[in-house]
Amino acid sequence: MTATPETARWEALAAARTRGDVGEGIASVLALLGRPDVISFAGGFPDPETFPRERISSLLQEFAAAGELSAFQYAPTRGLAGPLDAFADRLETLQGRRPAEDELMITSGAIEALELIGKSFLDPGDVVVVEGPTYLGAIQAFRSFEATLVAVPLDEHGLEVDELERQLAAGLRPKLLYTIPDHQNPAGVSLTEERRAPLVELARLYGFLIVEDVAYRELGFTDEALPSLWSLGPDVVVQAGTTSKTFCPGVRLGWAVGPAEISARLVAAKQLTDQCAGALGQRLFEESARRGWIDEQLARSRALYRRKGERVLAALERSLPAGTRWTRPEGGFFSWLTLAGSADSVALAQRAVEHGVAIVPGTLFFPDGRGTDTVRLSFSLVDDAQIDEGIEKLGALL
Ligand SMILES: Cc1ncc(COP(=O)(O)O)c(C=O)c1O
Repeated sequence: MTATPETARWEALAAARTRGDVGEGIASVLALLGRPDVISFAGGFPDPETFPRERISSLLQEFAAAGELSAFQYAPTRGLAGPLDAFADRLETLQGRRPAEDELMITSGAIEALELIGKSFLDPGDVVVVEGPTYLGAIQAFRSFEATLVAVPLDEHGLEVDELERQLAAGLRPKLLYTIPDHQNPAGVSLTEERRAPLVELARLYGFLIVEDVAYRELGFTDEALPSLWSLGPDVVVQAGTTSKTFCPGVRLGWAVGPAEISARLVAAKQLTDQCAGALGQRLFEESARRGWIDEQLARSRALYRRKGERVLAALERSLPAGTRWTRPEGGFFSWLTLAGSADSVALAQRAVEHGVAIVPGTLFFPDGRGTDTVRLSFSLVDDAQIDEGIEKLGALL
């Protein structure tokens, strides 16, 4: 933002918690997306080809013709009964545990679940452990409550649980630990099964709450799904989920499931944010899930992202210089590059945009300035036909 007398005036009135770099990071990523002349590996948006436009249109007509009221009215804060039941059914089928009624709520996207958790649990200075790197929106959400973020590294097997244990033993005392165990954003790796139960045990031992973000869990390229942390530790895990990547972000819908006492606090916090997630989106999702349409859409989306992911990996293999490393995602939207010889990824991103390719410098995904030699590549939105050309250009710049 340019400093004018006007901005300085409102800056002086702004709450302290908004004065960090909150908001700027995502805005700069989104700004790159709009340029039609750029091949963008930047944003993590779902491919619009997956959106069920016709089915949504027919459902809307059905609701109107049937004189349905609930889709158009305010909803209870926890969510409408039918959609809650549909979410509970999916959790039972996909994660092997059905939540009790007082454990589940519907949110306006996963980002709202993170916001509600922060609002309910974080005082200024409280410690939140995140993965280094992690989802930028989560860094911003927790920062907005003036939490102190501590990044514990991850490797190709996900969060380094041994390292976390060492830091806990040395005195680290987080209130929350935020993790994305499946097809992580931005690193494209998953937490191995061997690390899952020990992580849950650490939460029990040291008394922190695990915030499990499952945004990409259902977007695996194979049918293999590891047990969710919530299914392993429903007493110490609150799970935030979203329909943005499996249905469409336009409905802004997600869920939070966790211990009943925690759920009650999140519901209370939601009464003071948006009061309820939009009923129309809830009903559209419920009907789509009940008719098997979500599963059909998922099968197509997984095949689409798998194809794009494989193409990106093949292009990286062909075009990137020796010494550059990258992760091999088995689901989700991302591969994570580590540049050779500690090259500067911010400078690379700037030069890349000048040459018509958008990438995101990895340092944005660390709360502590690390990752200056890393890059996030998102393959979800880029046209198949442009993948090779985009990666070739990147390779030439490197
Ligand atoms: C890891 C992760 N969590 C949450 C979200 C946000 O989900 P929603 O659209 O439901 O707010 C995203 C979106 O990019 C994400 O990558």
